[in-house]
Amino acid sequence: MKVLVVGNGGREHALVWKIAQSPLVKEVFIAKGNAGIEAKKVNINPSEVALLADFAQREGIDFTIVGPEAPLVEGIVDEFERRGLKIFGPSKRASLLEGSKVFAKQFMLKHGIPTANFEVFEDPDKAKRFIRDFGAPVVVKADGLASGKGAIVCKTEQSAIEAIDFLMVRKALGEAGKRVVIEEFLEGEEASYIVMVDGERYVPLPTSQDHKRLLDGDTGPNTGGMGAYSPNPFINSQKEEEIKKNIIEKTLKALATEGIHYRGFLYAGLMLTSEGPKVLEFNVRLGDPEAQPLLMRIKGDFLEKLLNFYEGKDVELELDDRFALCVVLASKGYPDSPEVGKEITGIEEAKKEGALVFSCATELKDGKLLTAGGRVLNVCAWGKDLREAKEKAYRAVSKIKFEGMHYRKDIGDRALKIL
Ligand code: AMP
Ligand code: GLY
Repeated sequence: MKVLVVGNGGREHALVWKIAQSPLVKEVFIAKGNAGIEAKKVNINPSEVALLADFAQREGIDFTIVGPEAPLVEGIVDEFERRGLKIFGPSKRASLLEGSKVFAKQFMLKHGIPTANFEVFEDPDKAKRFIRDFGAPVVVKADGLASGKGAIVCKTEQSAIEAIDFLMVRKALGEAGKRVVIEEFLEGEEASYIVMVDGERYVPLPTSQDHKRLLDGDTGPNTGGMGAYSPNPFINSQKEEEIKKNIIEKTLKALATEGIHYRGFLYAGLMLTSEGPKVLEFNVRLGDPEAQPLLMRIKGDFLEKLLNFYEGKDVELELDDRFALCVVLASKGYPDSPEVGKEITGIEEAKKEGALVFSCATELKDGKLLTAGGRVLNVCAWGKDLREAKEKAYRAVSKIKFEGMHYRKDIGDRALKIL
């Protein structure tokens, strides 16, 4: 069969890598991908939904998997389904769970899904008055999509006021910051809990932990994610039962109550607090970079499992016992204004260390591989334990070079403290 993966980054490279291993596959296409992804390139941007549907019809694509949120929020699934094309992802309406933080928070409040207490503001003066009354720490979040940059953790009142100026007065993230959510700061370990969903049926994918902050020791600004590993040892089996019962099943029931049929990946970004797991955010897709280590731990033919699940059959995933860890190599200036066009060397040497190297933002020019965005490469490795996975990944990282390259040196360390 012919499979189309929509998206440009490391998550999509990992999906292509996994899917291409399926005996069911004749060809994998990627729209639009990047230079490092080994699949047939389709020169259509992920958000050009109608053009993608035209392509899928013309090419006879049998199944489409969507990586990023933007096309989902645009309604790619509605468009494909209207034309009778098979696609895995939530509808435009269901994608509001990620597309609007205000929608997601009000949905959680209404249905008793544990999350941080919050208020919504459309007026910057009112938001500032609230901050002065409430005090710090607080988290200020843009309502709309902002590529991981819309949540600002504020340790002081002053920085929260500045966050309001940034989002609502200077409108630095455009329309996304027209409305903001201000919420209480939660303490605990973070966990990414991702499931495949079809209505109230779901199958959990391997657990993982992302590293959202730019710099070591969880400092610096939030990013799309600087590294991840799977499994997440903070989720023991009792915690996982709690997450399933209090978060996933409640959410799926609530969606059904609202008349929203959800089919696709659902990502609950959680804080494991002393009062139990609470939702920081929902994403309507696989995480990036969580998908990379997570897919590395699924044994066998993932595409077959996904198709069976899509067709309504029960499926069970068989998992690799090993740990998988992923380090993001970023450009100088990421996340604000990354430098691009720097030559990359050492990928083959890194692979010789047993690592997988997924390509997030690269381009080929005059036979040279160049950086083409903020997050450039993902270097991923397996290990019998987390320590070994970390060592192998970083050994491979040391082979790769490009001007201005930076990465976190402490991926996995929070978990290593308890293992
Ligand atoms: P979000 O986009 O809402 O997931 O937020 C991005 C990141 O900001 C999260 O992964 C956390 O690291 C942090 N964060 C968001 N909300 C909170 C909160 N209420 N308390 C503490 N940290 C938070
Ligand atoms: N890594 C977090 C995300 O994909 O949103």
